[in-house]
Amino acid sequence: MCGIVGYTGSQNAAPLLLEGLKKLEYRGYDSAGIAVVEGNTIHIRKVTGRIANLCEKTGDGQGIPGTTGIGHTRWATHGAPTDTNAHPHTSNDGRFAVVHNGIIENYVELRRELTQKGYRFESETDTEVIVHLVEMYYGGDFKQAVMKAANRLRGSYALGIVCANEPGRIFVMREASPLIVGLGIGETYFASDVTAMVAYTRNVIYLEDGEFAELTPEGVQVYDCAGREIPKPISRITWDIQAAEKGGYAHFMLKEIMEQPRAAKATLAPRIQSGEVVLENLTLDWGKIQKIMITACGSAYYAGCAGKYTIEKLCRIPVQLELASELRYADPLVDEHTLLIVLSQSGETADTIAAMKECRNRGAQILAIVNVVGSTIAKLADCTLYTWAGPEIAVATTKGYTTQLLVLYLFALYAGKLRGTLKADQYHRLVGELRSLPRRMQLALDMNPRIPKLAKKYHKADSLFFIGRNTDYAVALEGALKMKEISYIHAESYAAGELKHGTIALIHEGQPVVALCCNPAVMEKTLSNIVEVIARGAEVLAVAERGNQTVLSVADDMLYVPRVDTLLSACVEIIPLQLLAYYVAKENGCDIDKPKNLAKSVTVE
Ligand code: F6R
Repeated sequence: MCGIVGYTGSQNAAPLLLEGLKKLEYRGYDSAGIAVVEGNTIHIRKVTGRIANLCEKTGDGQGIPGTTGIGHTRWATHGAPTDTNAHPHTSNDGRFAVVHNGIIENYVELRRELTQKGYRFESETDTEVIVHLVEMYYGGDFKQAVMKAANRLRGSYALGIVCANEPGRIFVMREASPLIVGLGIGETYFASDVTAMVAYTRNVIYLEDGEFAELTPEGVQVYDCAGREIPKPISRITWDIQAAEKGGYAHFMLKEIMEQPRAAKATLAPRIQSGEVVLENLTLDWGKIQKIMITACGSAYYAGCAGKYTIEKLCRIPVQLELASELRYADPLVDEHTLLIVLSQSGETADTIAAMKECRNRGAQILAIVNVVGSTIAKLADCTLYTWAGPEIAVATTKGYTTQLLVLYLFALYAGKLRGTLKADQYHRLVGELRSLPRRMQLALDMNPRIPKLAKKYHKADSLFFIGRNTDYAVALEGALKMKEISYIHAESYAAGELKHGTIALIHEGQPVVALCCNPAVMEKTLSNIVEVIARGAEVLAVAERGNQTVLSVADDMLYVPRVDTLLSACVEIIPLQLLAYYVAKENGCDIDKPKNLAKSVTVE
């Protein structure tokens, strides 16, 4: 979703802002803009469409003088993606400019009030009220004006504000939307995501909700909402900058698919020691827990669907799954006997945060499984287990999803042992199996060289069905989502046994059906369903263990996976389906890393 960046120092700001915005492109956007302060003037440039247009319009930023500035990529919410609605927005007197991530929930009433007071609105955005409020409250003290304006806002925001009277000063502010300040030598940065500034500095400060900060080339001063100075720790970004580059791959998505064995090692290695699962900081009150609820959105929710089987089997505790966007309004049956497991790659998904707060208010203990360090969800939880997948840039998650699964497996083994529901020999066998998963994920990547060819056969399909039972069904859900979101082909996942209760009516001559046959306990049943769709003309692309002659004898085409215990297999089974979606999207000429209408971090409801 929207991204913000800012810089104050001694270099020309515009080229740095544009570089920063390019790094945020992956979050999804439809317009962009920058504001640069030069002397007592603010230069504004905005475009609809890509950052490349903004670079062209500004001669890569060289055409705009000034050493302090702010920038924005906008993903339209209030008002169409137009130049006028693009940020930065300016005050009527031209003195202030603002960039904003998030949503101002009370903007309608603020807009009415400001209009009555004579402020003129140029855009349809909620953001514009902020800059007029700052103008209204400005009596010569920039900080006071920003504080007073902030006190009037309800909703979520990460803001950057510059003032023509005060070149070299930027105020930033955070409420329920990420904002990170970067400290250089004689220069200071801010951004909604560290990837925008990691090329320039690795020393960062994470702002908390309700905090605001004053940035100057000399450094940063952080304040609480009452304007009192507060000390903040400086954190160090440790991941390699190349992790956020394509590294020779055509797309981030392909790079991230290929990186999965390495990411899996990073997730598992520190947590399997001398044959035991060791989970850092898992300070839960285990005695109280009577049920587990898993909540998340999209792929993270589907990781939960697969994890449920493993946790229930190994821990003998009921696991309920809830979409976060539903759970938040469901008046859920959650209390102090519930352990809520929250899954999120970004750690900033608005629905997930809201569901989490709802359950926290009802007394649940909360364990978060998150990739982005220091993110809102990580901070809100009682305990956090990081997935350590490294930065995920492609909008469609791959290594984010598989590493979430791995942490769920670790949790299931750890809790199963602790609760005494897992026998020692089974525990040790599964820990050994878990350790071997990075290698098996690599095998799944290597044993499918025909996928680009298969993509040439299936890319023209109008729709695809993904079927499976039990753990295979959980993987089918994610396989279908991957196909839809990057190739724009309608794909539907179905529990194989449910087809005959209605959906089989859609099967016709030539209808492609991707059938997952990796779970030996239900394979014969799935085979019966495969035969049923073949009898109605379907073409079947099966996913099965290499050497499975029975499946081979009925399917038209095959995707292969190595043998893995069913309780741990989803993270391997999904790999050929990720590759299939990738190559089908490539055949269809889709914008794979930035699929239309999608955003990486969904910070609005
Ligand atoms: C799909 C995808 C989304 C996310 C969902 C939750 O490829 O990436 O479905 O899984 O938006 O995002 P996080 O995990 O950041 O909470």
